[in-house]
Amino acid sequence: MPHLLNLMDQPADVLGRLLDRAAALKADRTLARTALAGKVVGLVFEKPSLRTRVSFEVATAHLGGTSLFFPGNEIGLGWREPLPDFARVMSRYVDALVLRVFRHETVDELAKHGSIPVVNGLSDRSHPCQALADLLTVRERLGGVAGKTIAFVGDGNNVAMSLAVGCGKLGAKFVLACPKGYAFDDEFLKRYAEQVGGAPEVVHDPAAAAKAADVLYTDVWTSMGQEAERETRLRKFAKFQINDGLLAKAPPHCLVLHCLPAHRGEEITAGALEGPASGVFDQAENRLHAQKAVLEWMLADGK
Ligand code: CP
Ligand code: NVA
Repeated sequence: MPHLLNLMDQPADVLGRLLDRAAALKADRTLARTALAGKVVGLVFEKPSLRTRVSFEVATAHLGGTSLFFPGNEIGLGWREPLPDFARVMSRYVDALVLRVFRHETVDELAKHGSIPVVNGLSDRSHPCQALADLLTVRERLGGVAGKTIAFVGDGNNVAMSLAVGCGKLGAKFVLACPKGYAFDDEFLKRYAEQVGGAPEVVHDPAAAAKAADVLYTDVWTSMGQEAERETRLRKFAKFQINDGLLAKAPPHCLVLHCLPAHRGEEITAGALEGPASGVFDQAENRLHAQKAVLEWMLADGK
């Protein structure tokens, strides 16, 4: 049963094939128009979303399927009945589930107890669909992923963890520049060592990370679910901003990426986000193409 819960679980050749297919689907919108004919994709989201929700719904429509969206609180995810019951009932109705959850364990448990493919559309510990779109963007803007240096300036969060794994699997160097105390935790590092090998580099000086960066990447300092820490985080991350000064320290070809939504004036300035180095709207578009490749891989007949 193909699931996409975490990039850790996916071999490099699967990731490479998904990116190749995403590029083909992007180049020709008419491809795979009936791949999901008669199939229903259920989306269950405990947190807000623009990109993930809309790109999955549009991806499903482009592939000839139907999507159904349920806010987690209305459908009772995790509180109205036990997760194994939820997983088994949903498996009788829909053909795949896309989940956005607070606790990563929820996606693992639904995949374990259900009998349909499960996609993690963001948990507290990973955002694999985002990382696929990020890598697709790096590939199309810089001609490839292997050998590139991606410097993530900010929090060692879900987005950073998934991108670090994707980079490691596809031969890119990932450097996290973060305040002390906000790097990857031991649980992640242990799994990274087992599944990818070695460890991503961590520095505490954004300028040091920018020097050799082909990509400067950032995400919000306070993720969904961490709102109570916002004031502390604003103070601690103040020097970890992508701005024109930091970009000037990077090579001239350096690409700026952000998964969005962005907080201009916090993790990135408006100038850096809107400037010529920015690829953020291509990156947002690539969510659609990468997810079409994921849905086709999971659900198309004969796959
Ligand atoms: N980047 C991303 O996942 O955006 P949404 O939270 O809007 O889905
Ligand atoms: N790290 C952010 C990503 C949002 C797409 C969050 O989890 O809120």
